[in-house]
Amino acid sequence: MVSDTKSLLIRGAHVVDSVQDGKVDILIRGGVITAVGRELPSDGAAVEAGGLTCLPAFCDLHAHFRDPGVTHKEDLTSGSHAAVRGGYTAINLMANTKPVISSRLQVQDVLDRAASIGLIDVHQCASITRNMDGVTVDHLESLGDAVRIITDDGHDVMDARVMLQAMTAAARLGLTVMCHCEDMNLSGTDYRLAEDLMTHRNIELARAAGCRLHIAHVSTEGSMRAVIAAKERGQAVTCEVTPHHLALTSATSYRVNPPLRTQQDVDFLIRAVEQGWVDAIATDHAPHTADDKAAGAPGMVGLETAFGVCYTTLIRSGHITLARLTELMSRNPARILGLNKGCIAPSYDGDLVLVDLNTPWTVDATAFASKGHNTPFDGRTLVGRAVITIRAGRVVYDDTTSNQEERQ
Ligand code: DOR
Repeated sequence: MVSDTKSLLIRGAHVVDSVQDGKVDILIRGGVITAVGRELPSDGAAVEAGGLTCLPAFCDLHAHFRDPGVTHKEDLTSGSHAAVRGGYTAINLMANTKPVISSRLQVQDVLDRAASIGLIDVHQCASITRNMDGVTVDHLESLGDAVRIITDDGHDVMDARVMLQAMTAAARLGLTVMCHCEDMNLSGTDYRLAEDLMTHRNIELARAAGCRLHIAHVSTEGSMRAVIAAKERGQAVTCEVTPHHLALTSATSYRVNPPLRTQQDVDFLIRAVEQGWVDAIATDHAPHTADDKAAGAPGMVGLETAFGVCYTTLIRSGHITLARLTELMSRNPARILGLNKGCIAPSYDGDLVLVDLNTPWTVDATAFASKGHNTPFDGRTLVGRAVITIRAGRVVYDDTTSNQEERQ
């Protein structure tokens, strides 16, 4: 967290968050929003918003930065730059690195290195089973306070007894269990059943254990119905959907886990977004080399296209308001991560994104800050793009000057 006492005034922006929509100034001092109102005086740096719209900066519940161990695909520096280029200032990192992140020391190493890069706030997940071996859960006791979420994302925990043990420990330790729902024994046979079945199983196990559950990248109608049923009976379940599962169907041939689904699934997910069942939109940013993609590696990068895909798919098509999108991309994910972000109001972190909602732009994967260029959205024309990203009152990305460093 940047803790200087310098101030930054954002002047004349059209400001939208989940509870406001109007033209106001925003004053950030010491990294925190101190005032929101008309014609605020400035004693420091200022950003003239021009025709841009100001939103709470985005918070991603699901990204793979591949650091340590697979840093030719992404590392904390390139991932941080991709994040701020997409309007994100807080990222929840998955644990399927090499080695897998299963200890307090490994988590602290990532947090320290991310902090010294200084562009974003990072939460580093630890794995549910040690080294994702599917069996061992004794490491959970010593993860320490920095870990709020555990996940074996990329896999699932196949043995229900082991998952129940982990969830019982999570309930006692106050951890949220983030589930990639997939019965790996079934995925080769019926990938829909593989997801639906494990969503039901994980919800039932979490109910028995009494732990908080977060279901990652829900992609099927059946899985979403299971989440809705759990929420209806008051279970502590949250869920995310990805931009690609909202924007694409299996008519687009692109390998990702879970796979792109049918139009019926997409329509159901969008309806769930409209009706408030979906808590967050998360990217599942999964960088791969061209060679690995050609060899069948699943996943796509998403940080630099997420807002454009969501704005184009959900708002330009009239499904939801911009205020609701900020709930899905900023407020709710920040709450799930326990961050003081996602609202533009005094005492919240001074994390903002100024977006252009008018100028169509064409995705050029070669221009990504990410090391990964694997995206099915390459060449697509979108509306909605981050122009200036501010973290703790410091400009960390500025496309108006093509300067990604502080400009104060
Ligand atoms: O497509 C995916 N890629 N899904 C996952 O769950 C893991 C991710 C990866 O790590 O590449």
